[in-house]
Amino acid sequence: MSQNADNAVEVIDLSKNYGPVAALKEVSFSIESGKYFVLLGPSGGGKTTLLRLIGGFIKPSAGTVLLHGRDVTDLAPNERPTSMVFQSYALFPHMSVAKNVGYGLKLRRMRKAELDERVEEMLAMVGLEGYGARMPHELSGGQQQRVQLARSLVLQSDVLLLDEPLAALDAKLRKDMCLELKRIQEKVGITFIHVTHNQEEAMTVADRIAIVAGGELVEQGAPRDVYERPVRRFTADFIGENNLFDGRVTKTGGNAATVDLDFATVQALNGNGLAAGQAVALSIRSELLGLLTPADAENGGLQTIPAEYLEEVYLGLTTSHLVRLPNGQEIMVRTLSNGEAAATFEPGQTVTVGWKTEAARLHPD
Ligand SMILES: Nc1ncnc2c1ncn2[C@@H]1O[C@H](COP(=O)(O)OP(=O)(O)OP(=O)(O)O)[C@@H](O)[C@H]1O
Ligand SMILES: [Mg+2]
Repeated sequence: MSQNADNAVEVIDLSKNYGPVAALKEVSFSIESGKYFVLLGPSGGGKTTLLRLIGGFIKPSAGTVLLHGRDVTDLAPNERPTSMVFQSYALFPHMSVAKNVGYGLKLRRMRKAELDERVEEMLAMVGLEGYGARMPHELSGGQQQRVQLARSLVLQSDVLLLDEPLAALDAKLRKDMCLELKRIQEKVGITFIHVTHNQEEAMTVADRIAIVAGGELVEQGAPRDVYERPVRRFTADFIGENNLFDGRVTKTGGNAATVDLDFATVQALNGNGLAAGQAVALSIRSELLGLLTPADAENGGLQTIPAEYLEEVYLGLTTSHLVRLPNGQEIMVRTLSNGEAAATFEPGQTVTVGWKTEAARLHPD
């Protein structure tokens, strides 16, 4: 990050209470100008609340919102350099695509010639060149979504707020539109803040992902960081397919920690400087676990635990293997379906689950 990075958004100790419900609890973060920023988290976590506070549609109970360094906390939505794409706001059904897109400019009393030109430009931007005369009901779901996007982009705000913009689309269309959104954001170069509870959507579009849950910003980072190196237990549990084990650090030394899992003792990297005696969660993504042959297990170099094989679920590219640990916990091991390790196992069979020491992560909370 450059030192004099211009922050499009800065939120300081922002809180929002709805009566007794604390929807947002003293959240602070900033977003660098021109980034595609995603708020990702479970339902009810406070994502929409945060987005609406940035757009000025609701007032905070406490805290400050700065846009490009200017305090906008007390400004109305139309006085802010933001525009919002609402998931629930459909297009005006009786207006053509061009009229829908130009609506906001007309309210601003822009001259017709300039308005028409800007509308055409935006339709081209979202891949709908020549669709201006169509009516909304003559468009597919994905095309309607693009018109909504054009309607907001045409206002040339500095920050575009998108609340679950793809929620209404089916899986295939959602995937296509994700890539499209990313391409459009790169082209227009303005800051996007996109709310979703869909992990794959977040990973596809984001420069940075912030995990929002329980009214807090749990953790943020580049998609690869939050997926491969989650710091908080919550993030590990929410992102990817992580197996979590409760344990206690019994010994530390160098950058290693010995962790007692009750049914086994394993070694892990001690990236967070944990001390002996501390309760921890150990997380390992299912694709980093393997079902070992006796030869593998004897070769050493791997952390291993015994398990009972339960069943396999074939998922095409990968196969999930459900196994039960000595403490009764069931975990998932994921392998490539036609990989070399495509051995078959019988339910009830004793197997050894193994992983490279560095594949596991320790979480103090
Ligand atoms: N107008 C309101 N009045 C009272 N409580 C509200 C109101 N709006 C939201 N809440 C509560 O605030 C919390 C956060 O809601 P918010 O809509 O921000 O969640 P979200 O992360 O957007 O969830 P989703 O993914 O389901 O859209 C929830 O507990 C919700 O019930
Ligand atoms: Mg929401």
